[in-house]
Order: sequence, then structure tokens, then C-alpha cells
Amino acid sequence: MSGNITFTMIKPCAVKNNFIGPILKMINEKGFRIKAIKMTRFSRERAEAFYGIHAGKFFFEELVEFMSSGPIIAAILEKENAIDDFRDLIGNTNPEKAAEGTIRKLFAESFTANAIHGADSDENALREGSFFFSEMEQY
Ligand code: CMP
Repeated sequence: MSGNITFTMIKPCAVKNNFIGPILKMINEKGFRIKAIKMTRFSRERAEAFYGIHAGKFFFEELVEFMSSGPIIAAILEKENAIDDFRDLIGNTNPEKAAEGTIRKLFAESFTANAIHGADSDENALREGSFFFSEMEQY
């Protein structure tokens, strides 16, 4: 059982395709409360810092390029068992393996342009959330 906070980003492909509304609706209907939310954009440098854990991997350059290619929605979400329940809602990182009815199955284009991010641990949810939001911006 995970803690009650997760961090998400609706990625540039889904923002561009006008999927913010349908994705937020699914998040809302699953029972998540929005603690913080903003539309913003990664600079290249900020994307490299955020994804520093993947530096040197074969997909790093494509990931940084894609994530800084347009605006995103960043949000901190609250719900019991947030990490696990959110990962169930978004589906497998590889959209070809995502289950029916998941956000990635519905809205992802590829492994990189996979519509949405969900933190993979309590520790990363806090780290990633504080990358975008100060204490005063979290309600
Ligand atoms: P996400 O988990 O949101 O954040 C890291 C991203 O890196 C991941 O989504 C994928 O979009 C991308 N990624 C991770 N592993 C691979 C891989 N093996 N091939 C291509 N992209 C990957």
C-alpha cells in the first residue's frame, strides 16, 4: 500500500491533442483530489534535471526533446493508495501493453509520447511535486 500523494504530468502530445479535459475527468472519477495544478513548459535544462535519473540511457535525448516540445499540465493528486491506484488508472508505460480503459490505452501515441506520467514511489512523488510546486501552492 502506497501513501496518499502522487505526482502527474499530462504530456505535450496529450495537451496538443486537446485531451486535458477527458484525462482530468478520468482522474476525478477515480477519486483523486487535486492538491496542486498548473499548465507550464519544461525548458531543455529543466527537463534534463527532472529526468536526471535516466541520463545516459538510450531514450534520454528523445525524452528530453519531447518533454520540452510544448506545454504540459503538472499536478499533485491525493487519494488513499495514490501511487498504485494512479498507475492502475494510467496503464503500462508502453501503450501497446496498456490495459483497455486506461489513460494510456486511450490517449497515448508511443512509448515516448505516452500521454501521461505517474510517479513510481512515495519518495519520487514528493521529489517531483516539489520540483513544480512550492508549499504555498499546495492545498
Ligand atoms: P514516464 O515513466 O512517464 O517517464 C520516463 C519516460 O521515459 C517514460 O514515461 C517513457 O516515456 C520513457 N521511457 C522509459 N523507458 C523507455 C524505453 N525503454 N524506451 C523508450 N522510452 C522509454
